[in-house]
Amino acid sequence: MTEDATGIAVRQWGELAPGAVLLDGFHAIKHALRFGARVGPVLTTDAAAVLALADRLADDVTEVLRGLLTEVDRDALRGLVPRGHTTEVAALAARPAREDNLAALAHRPRPAPVVLLDNPRNLGNVGAVVRLAAGFGATGVVTTGDLDPWHQNAVRAGAGLHYATAVERVETDGLPPGPLFALDPEGEDIRSVVLPDDAVLAFGSERHGISDEVRARADRLVSLPMRPQVSSYNLATSVRMALFHWGGPKAAG
Ligand SMILES: C[S@@+](CC[C@H](N)C(=O)[O-])C[C@H]1O[C@@H](n2cnc3c(N)ncnc32)[C@H](O)[C@@H]1O
Repeated sequence: MTEDATGIAVRQWGELAPGAVLLDGFHAIKHALRFGARVGPVLTTDAAAVLALADRLADDVTEVLRGLLTEVDRDALRGLVPRGHTTEVAALAARPAREDNLAALAHRPRPAPVVLLDNPRNLGNVGAVVRLAAGFGATGVVTTGDLDPWHQNAVRAGAGLHYATAVERVETDGLPPGPLFALDPEGEDIRSVVLPDDAVLAFGSERHGISDEVRARADRLVSLPMRPQVSSYNLATSVRMALFHWGGPKAAG
């Protein structure tokens, strides 16, 4: 029996999926394409709808997408991506080489901070932080602990922006170079601190805060202003405030 187009697409997906990054939904695919990911295959239940969406929201990627799209039936897509995005499109992409990311993270002089998430527990927070780092033009996001920052739930929460910054897991004794500022409610008020471009900004886990190992390595402990009796802010919210305090991407021109 000859294999139909859906069968071929499903088989190829199965061969490529191990080790690849799942891009679930239009926005993740759009960002990955914009920031140079090697994307493909791209499967959808409705190619015309995806191309219309691209024309409306991101016409810079329409033509590339047109060449990558394969239409499959809904059951097939659900079989590959069980709780897929409402835009009914998903893709696989190559994960950037670890050595390239580590080189980008170690490169000096550094034009923008690295964000360190010290043993994060929530993949939604990891993705939200990657999205912030991409938007602020941070050099990258490194994590310690056992979560993979490229887990599909983190990539989905990051809207595919993992390709717009350097994202890697590292050991505590292999942190990127640069002055280490640990964010902690016990630290000195961040409003009196200048965060340099080559800073590593460390944030603790949702459960336990900054680990003893990172605390011991920190050059400074800094706090975000908070009213008495409030214990702490959400992790991603804290990263947002610290990056805003650093200053964000330099204005063009
Ligand atoms: C949800 S909080 C961790 C709460 C944890 N129960 C604790 O004991 O610290 C996650 C991280 O956000 C950062 N953070 C939250 N509120 C902060 C504040 N007011 N000042 C500085 N950092 C803060 C810290 O890095 C903290 O480790």
